[in-house]
Amino acid sequence: MSQEPDTSGPSGITTDRFLFGGDYNPEQWPETLWQQDIELMRVAGVNAVTVGVFSWALLEREEGIYTFDWLDRILGMLHAAGIGVILATPTASPPPWFTLTHPDALPIRADGTQLWHGSRDAYCPSAPAYRAASSAIATALAERYGSHPAVTSWHVHNEYGTFCFCDHVAESFRRWLRRKYEDLADLNRAWYTAFWSQNYTQWDQILPPRATQYLHNPTHAVDFRRFMSDEFLQCWREQRTAIRSAGANQPITTNYMLPPWNHLEQWSWSAELDFVSMDHYLDSEGPDGETHAAYAGDLSRSWALGRPWLLMEQAAGVVTLHGNRYASKGPGRMLRNSLSYIARGSQGALFFQWRAPAAGAEVWHAGLVPHAGADSRVFKEVTALGAALAQIAEVADPAVQGPVVDADVAILWHADGWWALENRSLPSEHLDYSSAVRATHRALWQQGFAVDFVRPGADLTAYRVVLVPSMFSLDDAAVAALRAQVGTGGTLVVWYFSGVADQDLHVTPGGYPGRIRDLLGVRVDEFLPLDPAHTVELSDGLIGDQWSENVQLTTATAVTSYLQGELAGRPAITRNDYGNGAAYYVSTRLDLPSLKAFLSTVTAQAGVCPVLGSAPPAGVEVIRRNGVDHHYLFVLNHGSEPVRLSGPGTDLLTETSTAAGGLLINAGGVAVVREDVGATEWSLAVD
Ligand code: GAL
Repeated sequence: MSQEPDTSGPSGITTDRFLFGGDYNPEQWPETLWQQDIELMRVAGVNAVTVGVFSWALLEREEGIYTFDWLDRILGMLHAAGIGVILATPTASPPPWFTLTHPDALPIRADGTQLWHGSRDAYCPSAPAYRAASSAIATALAERYGSHPAVTSWHVHNEYGTFCFCDHVAESFRRWLRRKYEDLADLNRAWYTAFWSQNYTQWDQILPPRATQYLHNPTHAVDFRRFMSDEFLQCWREQRTAIRSAGANQPITTNYMLPPWNHLEQWSWSAELDFVSMDHYLDSEGPDGETHAAYAGDLSRSWALGRPWLLMEQAAGVVTLHGNRYASKGPGRMLRNSLSYIARGSQGALFFQWRAPAAGAEVWHAGLVPHAGADSRVFKEVTALGAALAQIAEVADPAVQGPVVDADVAILWHADGWWALENRSLPSEHLDYSSAVRATHRALWQQGFAVDFVRPGADLTAYRVVLVPSMFSLDDAAVAALRAQVGTGGTLVVWYFSGVADQDLHVTPGGYPGRIRDLLGVRVDEFLPLDPAHTVELSDGLIGDQWSENVQLTTATAVTSYLQGELAGRPAITRNDYGNGAAYYVSTRLDLPSLKAFLSTVTAQAGVCPVLGSAPPAGVEVIRRNGVDHHYLFVLNHGSEPVRLSGPGTDLLTETSTAAGGLLINAGGVAVVREDVGATEWSLAVD
């Protein structure tokens, strides 16, 4: 797909080289080590560090009394060494004096448990004292460093997401609800409060969704999620105002994160950031970690509306998985992962953190300089990565405003879809938004397709194929955009449990998926969730599990049917011709091979190909990043076989031609190829 750059939203980050480095916490180390740090940074090619993320307690030792001398010294040293600083505001971790002076600014859990300082993120985002103190320290930092030559951008806070259920939050939540609904009767209707005697007669009867005796009201819970995202955004805006009012003009961002939870509605956030940045930690040691990195990269670029963004954190090695399991990163993976983000539009590869700490809660978290020091496998790879990023610097061309990747396939993505399925009284315990979206993205990744994510309600007509896994609720704008995409000749695929409800999570009556029955040409009168031990075979050999439905055809035709059980002979996947396009409905969860086979057929019918025309060899990732004069092919061989890439271009890493005999890329190896102008003929095969 080729589209005109969108001029709304984040402007994207522009740098004339890739940023390389990460969080640097000099305050944790004796000053005698700082010069050595800087020398090692130069050895490694580090050109950007994020300073001050958790420094509040050492910057403001008493209310309003700032100690900037150490920060002055380190910023001066970094600047002298040509290393740029992404200066953080430290508001993710207020100091102990603050919480003791303002105990009402400590967070309270849904069950009423008071949380205390002694870890991090001990703040209530709605507490007036916390908001004032955050603005004050942001102002003080911006007044002092707003024109410091080392400071290239601002990193406000760290990973917004601390939830609180206290009275301050309750008040702010009610203000948000009054703005949204205006009339209490409308809130009662939206929240369906006639059920279980929840009707509100005064606004101040409404609470955050604190611990309850039994199930929460799902619309109340989702509205609270939406409110919290807006509340965090308001915190961010106040710091932006403080920084700008103090005269600092550098771009301002905050770092997103997407672990198994999701606290922000990234589309509305991204419209306000100067550029999108993301922290990403692999969720698996195995090969699926690569698909996770790609997922994070594609999401970040999409939230940036196709423009360059920044990978603010990743791990150089050992990282904690799920609280208590540690995973390491094998040789070569740091480079391959970093290039995967960069291929997808990241303007750099930053890490948490420069030096592995000597002690503290994250003592076993990897650093670019591990406990072993510079004489280590990790630091050698860090240095090699720095050199590789310098070799491919031309790809970072600041003239490229986007889209940095062209994709014909898009997946609908919205935090509402995630939050709606947090309701634990669903018809199957397996309904899970992020797994459904990940599975769809993974199937496309394994076949080498470029993929965007898109916002419900956005204009989708430029995409040939739009995929809608698990989007339970759709508002009118989202429905209209899907109709327009199909009507103008696109292909749409909708999976079960999508389009069932409106934005208030009210199920549309008359058969599922009520919001888009006519678009899909089906009517489902019953969900039939499957026992986890059972699979269902479909008439074309595909396999489903977890979910099935009794699908009636209205205008659609059956593509494939259930073979066994009470649904034997009934449609499982359908296709409806609508306007100039086609809309598919998938009424079961396809296993990975089936999903790949199905998407391969659908994309082929829509005339959409993988990046190099056909699926790459197993485990090999190919992404094309756009430049102004050239395009660049990133080939990342995560597989176990050497592959050969042939076509008219030059590998920037080895400065070798890919024409003639082609370029051998060993297992674990990479290539970043500048394509000759007009190059179209590429082949990639196991050697
Ligand atoms: C990030 C966080 C860092 C560090 C890291 C550990 O989410 O921003 O401060 O805790 O996780 O993986």
